[in-house]
Amino acid sequence: MYQGASGLQVTAVVWGPGDHAPPHNHNTWGMIGVWDNALTETRFQRLDDRTRVDYAKLEKDRTAVVKPGEISLLVPEVDEIHQMDNFTDRPTVEIHVYGKDLRGLDRCTYDLETGRVSPFVTRKYDNC
Ligand SMILES: [Fe+2]
Repeated sequence: MYQGASGLQVTAVVWGPGDHAPPHNHNTWGMIGVWDNALTETRFQRLDDRTRVDYAKLEKDRTAVVKPGEISLLVPEVDEIHQMDNFTDRPTVEIHVYGKDLRGLDRCTYDLETGRVSPFVTRKYDNC
């Protein structure tokens, strides 16, 4: 991991076969590049007016299989809620670059069935 003085963070992330991250936000910009293998990313748009902290209505926007040499961009408030899945049978390696240190940053996961928003705070390097 690289941690810059301005908050810039660069990490290598390894997703094992079957690994899954539910829909979540980042509260910072990001660039995710696949280095080896592939990862399936599903993006969501938030349709509610964001007045409730415990509820969000999400709609699936698109799904992409991100492969080596390809990048995915995260734009806070605009296009940053995603789900990640390694549907392959071997590890996927990515390089993540974020505008802030994700450790300690208030973020959320989203339940697509109920609309429930659950806050979480990343404590480790191996975040996404
Ligand atoms: Fe993420």
